[in-house]
Amino acid sequence: MSINDLSPEDRKALLAERREEYKNFWPGPHGRRARFAIEMFPLLHADKRRGHALIPATQDMRLRKVVEIFGKYFKQELGFDSVPFVAQHSRLYAGDPTVEVVLFDAQRVQATFPIAAGAAGLSVQDGERWLDWVWIHPFERGRGLADQAWADLEEIYGKAFKIQPPLSPAMERFLTHHDIAPERWRF
Ligand SMILES: CC(C)(COP(=O)(O)OP(=O)(O)OC[C@H]1O[C@@H](n2cnc3c(N)ncnc32)[C@H](O)[C@@H]1OP(=O)(O)O)[C@@H](O)C(=O)NCCC(=O)NCCS
Repeated sequence: MSINDLSPEDRKALLAERREEYKNFWPGPHGRRARFAIEMFPLLHADKRRGHALIPATQDMRLRKVVEIFGKYFKQELGFDSVPFVAQHSRLYAGDPTVEVVLFDAQRVQATFPIAAGAAGLSVQDGERWLDWVWIHPFERGRGLADQAWADLEEIYGKAFKIQPPLSPAMERFLTHHDIAPERWRF
């Protein structure tokens, strides 16, 4: 039965039930936002590097926290069990000292300061550099940010780093279109 077919009293009661469910489903003042919003982050304190997208973030706690949020989006979107990066080191999470993280400056929205619209994490395993994860804001996909981000990554980390599986279909297509050597990502 449709909600529109209910008597006014029953509709009111059903709406009250739904409101209660909704309130409890995403508890806390920012619960719903944390679950659904996908944000970009203005980085007022960081340098804008014209002609480049990549902003090194490993050494700056404010930037690390933005990377962590993008890591949560990455986890949610691709359905992983855990986040790829935690900003704060703790007793429980000592962190891998070889891990480096970067942010990507939006291309579609421009300001005199960078606007973080994506992130990536890299590590070293057995002496080899790996791109462990990468995530770009949906509004910036298919618009060249990934191309610039990739060029910047190769400029800093060389053209031999490998890409950690599992790869998403979008990443596979990206690597195929860019003629990235299969030995870097087909395992
Ligand atoms: C992977 C990613 C960084 C690529 O950036 P992008 O801006 O989308 O890159 P491009 O548009 O240049 O290329 C992506 C290609 O994948 C395609 N694609 C995008 N989403 C897709 C999806 N869900 N399934 C299949 N193909 C997809 C695009 O159409 C494009 O192919 P085309 O050039 O033939 O149209 C970005 O899509 C992203 O952040 N995705 C979510 C996180 C992710 O998948 N990370 C990689 C984990 S291994």
